[in-house]
Amino acid sequence: MTGSPAEVFSRLSNGVYVVGVAHGSRVNAFTAAWLTQVSFDPLLVALSISPDHASYPLLTASGLFGVSVLGQGQMELARQFGTRSGRELDKLAGVAWRRGSLGAPLLLEAAAWLECRVVGTMPAGDHELIVARVVGGAVREASLAPMAYADTGNLDQSDALYPPAFPT
Ligand SMILES: Cc1cc2nc3c(=O)[nH]c(=O)nc-3n(C[C@H](O)[C@H](O)[C@H](O)COP(=O)(O)O)c2cc1C
Repeated sequence: MTGSPAEVFSRLSNGVYVVGVAHGSRVNAFTAAWLTQVSFDPLLVALSISPDHASYPLLTASGLFGVSVLGQGQMELARQFGTRSGRELDKLAGVAWRRGSLGAPLLLEAAAWLECRVVGTMPAGDHELIVARVVGGAVREASLAPMAYADTGNLDQSDALYPPAFPT
């Protein structure tokens, strides 16, 4: 048996999403893989976000976000929103998007969308866990298979963030 933490964690299954945030007239969006359903009734999702992200204060101030589900072949969108900060550039410029019913950005080309209201938060190491109620959603393109996080390689440069070995 072999496997560093990075190698083992790369075998967990995650999708790839663009999480849109808004507070008043300010909007931004970032790529996220750490998003999953956590309840049927009510419909809840959990999102893990770094408090260092430009999106974080917008998300926590408004208590809402939109989820654009990326499909296979949409790696450029994952790169656009996941490798630069909204502090450096307007990532939504040049990308087709609209505000959802809650006001958060949704990408027009996404395979599907969710709209979420935050119901709870919890520190989670170097990230923060956001639990949110899903208040809306739609499939745009039923034939577009979802993107897998494993297919993004080291786009998020996370290889360097794993410890070399598991704690004993
Ligand atoms: C494939 C991929 C997955 C990512 N997943 C997450 C995630 O789940 N949570 C997170 O906080 N950041 C994640 N990131 C990093 C952010 O997208 C990235 O740091 C982004 O530049 C933050 O943007 P902002 O500062 O404009 O908010 C991911 C990046 C990539 C490329």
